[in-house]
Amino acid sequence: MKTYYTLITGASQGYGKSMALEFAKRGMNLILVALPDSGLKKLSKFIELHFNVKVCYLELDLSLSVSCYDILRYIEVNGLQVKYLVNNAGVLSRGEFSGLSEKYILKQIDVNVMTPTLLIRLLLSNLKSNGPAGILNISSMASFFALPTKQVYGGTKAYLTSFSRSLRKELKHDNISVTTICPGGLNTTTRLCYQNRLMGWISRKSILNPEEAAIIAIEAMLKAKKVVIPGFINKCLMFLDKLLPEFIKDKLAEREIKKIPQVT
Ligand SMILES: NC(=O)c1ccc[n+]([C@@H]2O[C@H](COP(=O)([O-])OP(=O)(O)OC[C@H]3O[C@@H](n4cnc5c(N)ncnc54)[C@H](OP(=O)(O)O)[C@@H]3O)[C@@H](O)[C@H]2O)c1
Repeated sequence: MKTYYTLITGASQGYGKSMALEFAKRGMNLILVALPDSGLKKLSKFIELHFNVKVCYLELDLSLSVSCYDILRYIEVNGLQVKYLVNNAGVLSRGEFSGLSEKYILKQIDVNVMTPTLLIRLLLSNLKSNGPAGILNISSMASFFALPTKQVYGGTKAYLTSFSRSLRKELKHDNISVTTICPGGLNTTTRLCYQNRLMGWISRKSILNPEEAAIIAIEAMLKAKKVVIPGFINKCLMFLDKLLPEFIKDKLAEREIKKIPQVT
């Protein structure tokens, strides 16, 4: 009998870590990827000890395409069977475009766009041989809106949402589902937890904890859903988006964005 694995990028903290714990709770073996010295070794040991699953970890910089080939090589050398691939690693938004360094912009595009695309391509035959298999791409509600201070981020996530929807149509013939999760705010990093508390009432109520968003994402993938917006209020906001005129939406978005302190 085959031993299956779930590969999660950006699993050291935040949403990725919550998904790793949730997959482990469900008895799934894991391959975790994040940057060096991000605590993956400790997390892997903890998961193996508490959930009785196998955990491998790879400390790699996912802004480099060579890291995707390193992952493939590791999987092939160790004969691992990947059933689920979770593209979660992401570089978050950081303020106005004119203030972003070119290095930061390119890193954001590489981690958010290049890596999930290349990783899916490289792991496709492994996933195909383990069908029914699933790809879970972590996008964002920002992929649907025009938001100042989230220009490059929103653009990368719009790519991921669009790419996933098209790819889903192709891969259904290979018994691989592609699910896109578009969270609104999540209480993950310390900075985001602080920022989220400064938001207006509705925005604050729309924020989810990564643990609850992890359950939503995994269940959506297991049910082979297409695009999922976690949380009732976020679903209502998406519906309102279709009804409200552009100038009102712009005013509301600007008001919320102004409350976010700029990162320097
Ligand atoms: N938080 C939100 O409000 C929110 C909302 C919508 C969507 N999302 C999406 O959810 C995903 C996770 O976000 P999060 O809030 O959990 O972020 P986070 O706490 O900053 O975690 C990001 C993860 O990605 C990894 N990562 C970043 N750059 C990397 C690189 N160059 N190489 C390897 N790993 C790298 C980080 O690893 P290290 O620990 O090694 O740095 C970390 O594990 C992202 O795709 C994000 O766009 C988040």
